[in-house]
Amino acid sequence: MKTFAKPPEFIHDSSTRPGRIHFGPLNCWTNDPAGLVYCDGLYHMFFQVNPGGTSWGNIHWGHTVSRDLVNWQMRPLAITPHPELGLAFTGSVVVDSENSSGLFPERRDGFVAFLTTASPVPGQDRYTQTQSIAYSRDRGETWQWHSDNPVIPDQSARDFRDPKVFRDEERSRWCAVISRGQSVSFYASVNLLEWWHLSTSDLPAVPDVCECPDLIRMDYRGGYVWVLFYSVSHDSRGLGSGVRYQLGSFDGVRFVPDVPRKQGERVFDVGFDHYALQSWYGLPDSDGPVTISWANNSAYAHDLPAVYRGVNGMMTVPRLLELAETETGLTLVQRPAIVLDEAADTRMPALDCGSGCLQFLPTDSGPFYVMLRGGSEQVSYLQIEISCYNGFYLDIHLDFNAGEISARRTAPKLDTPEMDSRHLMPSPARPVECLVLMDRGIVELFLNGGTAAATYQIFDEGTPVELKVKSPGAPGTIEVTACRVEQPKRSIKKEV
Ligand code: FRU
Repeated sequence: MKTFAKPPEFIHDSSTRPGRIHFGPLNCWTNDPAGLVYCDGLYHMFFQVNPGGTSWGNIHWGHTVSRDLVNWQMRPLAITPHPELGLAFTGSVVVDSENSSGLFPERRDGFVAFLTTASPVPGQDRYTQTQSIAYSRDRGETWQWHSDNPVIPDQSARDFRDPKVFRDEERSRWCAVISRGQSVSFYASVNLLEWWHLSTSDLPAVPDVCECPDLIRMDYRGGYVWVLFYSVSHDSRGLGSGVRYQLGSFDGVRFVPDVPRKQGERVFDVGFDHYALQSWYGLPDSDGPVTISWANNSAYAHDLPAVYRGVNGMMTVPRLLELAETETGLTLVQRPAIVLDEAADTRMPALDCGSGCLQFLPTDSGPFYVMLRGGSEQVSYLQIEISCYNGFYLDIHLDFNAGEISARRTAPKLDTPEMDSRHLMPSPARPVECLVLMDRGIVELFLNGGTAAATYQIFDEGTPVELKVKSPGAPGTIEVTACRVEQPKRSIKKEV
């Protein structure tokens, strides 16, 4: 067994962007969250990182920990590429508390990472993708590769990666879901080291490739609902890439969606920049599922300049999930895992521009939120405009009568494609509600109690940002609360 040689120093010793609510390591490239695991009061987040540069490549696992899902502390670089099998792609971590792997005599807190190891195949447009095991006896601080890697060999497929391990309690065994082209495959294991294939299911409407699958079990009305998530790298609906989910059941071998084919597939976040969702393993039952995603779009992520933001790759805020019955059926409801303080001294002033338009000019450029709640008079339309002095413009229209959200974004100075999308909002609710969570470089919207969410990057290039909220035809009918988010704290599950 081999211990990783650590690089002399991890250049990104800052936990996250100071004063921000979105995690984003400084001066390096970051993509997917991976290996999300909770252990003994700490939330661990590993993530794809290039420790030596601001573009994709040289992929390692970074590591950060938090007690509250809001404030993160950077830990030393975790998993370095495997000497023979290649880069440390996305995967997952579980706590092997019963020592089913035999790797942790005398410990109940051994971490096992199951991840893809990948290396380019010379002369071909593909990587070998093997699935490998690494383990840590000090809660993620130092890692070793298992001696018998890979534990699942290359399948000669163009895409076969991102194993996410979950526990099948009914059958007392481990399972993993792995993306395979336009499908997902399920595997099982009793010791986390030897895996056998259970089933492979095609996914509806995946035009290119699916990545980063996850399967979670949620309590619902005395029973369970299983949720299968996957990221779709090129989307035909004008979004570039995004996360989809299906509700269904898992019988220990295969996932069976409640509603078959395309009709059963939902968009998790209807913004432009939400990808590679993963949920935390091992949360206490009272927490419910919590997910986090890479706030980017694989269609253009690799073409964005990094320097002006100091980061190239941020995560969304962690999201707490629940299931709710809505007009469109059973739906995932998501809300940020952050307490949004309404204390008077954090209030932000708004400029009334007339005709139902309020303007916010954040002076200190710190994070803030605007909560809009429709009053007794029905609000049928909201427009949210974000513009920057460099010509960046994001225009979001919420049509509550039609149950539709549409967005258009231009960034004339950057080489990003103009984005334009139109989506159904899963469940039009009355009175309407819209939470706008603003931070430097990113805005997240949570609509109607979280039945819809949308994440967008803001390419401000360090220039001042301006937010306008417009409700044409219904001035005065909306209650507006705007506050700076100064000392973010974590919100707990039942606190709505
Ligand atoms: C998704 C992804 C994964 C892969 C990783 C490599 O963004 O392409 O499928 O494991 O990034 O960094």
